[in-house]
Amino acid sequence: MKPRIFVTRRIAQAGLDLLTPHCEVEVWPGEEPPSREELRARVPGCHGLLTLLSDRVDEELLAVAGPQLRVVSNHAAGVDNIDVAAATRRGILVTNTPDVLTETTADLAFALICATSRRLVEGVDWVRAGRWKTWSPLFLLGQDLFGATLGLVGLGRIGRAVARRAQGFAMRVLWYDPSIPAGSVPAGLHRCDTLDELLRAADVVSLHVPLTPATRGLFDVAALRAMKPTAVLINTCRGQVVDTAALVQALQEGWIAGAGLDVTDPEPLPADHPLVSEPRCIVLPHIGSASTATRGRMAELAAADLLAGLRGEPPRHPVNPEVLAGRAAAGAGC
Ligand code: GLV
Repeated sequence: MKPRIFVTRRIAQAGLDLLTPHCEVEVWPGEEPPSREELRARVPGCHGLLTLLSDRVDEELLAVAGPQLRVVSNHAAGVDNIDVAAATRRGILVTNTPDVLTETTADLAFALICATSRRLVEGVDWVRAGRWKTWSPLFLLGQDLFGATLGLVGLGRIGRAVARRAQGFAMRVLWYDPSIPAGSVPAGLHRCDTLDELLRAADVVSLHVPLTPATRGLFDVAALRAMKPTAVLINTCRGQVVDTAALVQALQEGWIAGAGLDVTDPEPLPADHPLVSEPRCIVLPHIGSASTATRGRMAELAAADLLAGLRGEPPRHPVNPEVLAGRAAAGAGC
């Protein structure tokens, strides 16, 4: 009997092509995520779930799925949508898709850095509204990136990829990441001992941290007030790292000069939200990894790791490798 898999959204065909010869695959057909009730109705009896960051995979869902569930493969680098500890307790392997999206997401972060600092969307809006009458010496003045200081909060794979781009723009790069021991980072980047030190110096602050209890709400009133009034905030990691109400106030009251957001809290952000109408804020619909090639690679990786987990083989990106060790000790293949 083939293992049963539920894929919670249509993904790139390359991923489905890997699964279908080996598994009985059900794919959620909707454009929008399955509701909680729909998820609960589809997971019972599944051996593997291929999930997206918009699916909440918690203890209750794992219990509803049943004891045969062996793998949850998340089609995302972040796994904050999954209760990994609960999966580990149940011996369920969790995998994710980092690496393959690093450069694509860094491109998008840098696009937001340029667009926000140089006020591109305001310019586009101006032209579209038929308001472009003449060249003007004092119109839509932004901030130079050349010679400016970039502050990276989080220096993992994507943070480092953004740093490489910034060096090409002759920016000075500061970083703050308490999880990294000093001395283990690329040359030419300057470590800050505190977040406050980085915020007070940076012209562009770009966030590249996972969402954890320590980073949730990290950008609160105090952090935003510590930024320069000429600085911009870029968020391509998780919306909940920034206190949305504080950011609205920061933009409305001019504590900072702008924001470029690929992620928001909540997601999706309603069209009538103050951040959407704020002229100095660019909001994108969470498209950091959205290139054709990268979404193909993510689908393939998520499918390949799901199959590996079902077969008892090591996946490329286990999030809870202790489950593999436990299976090996118990001599349990699939
Ligand atoms: C996107 O946000 C991801 O975590 O892959």
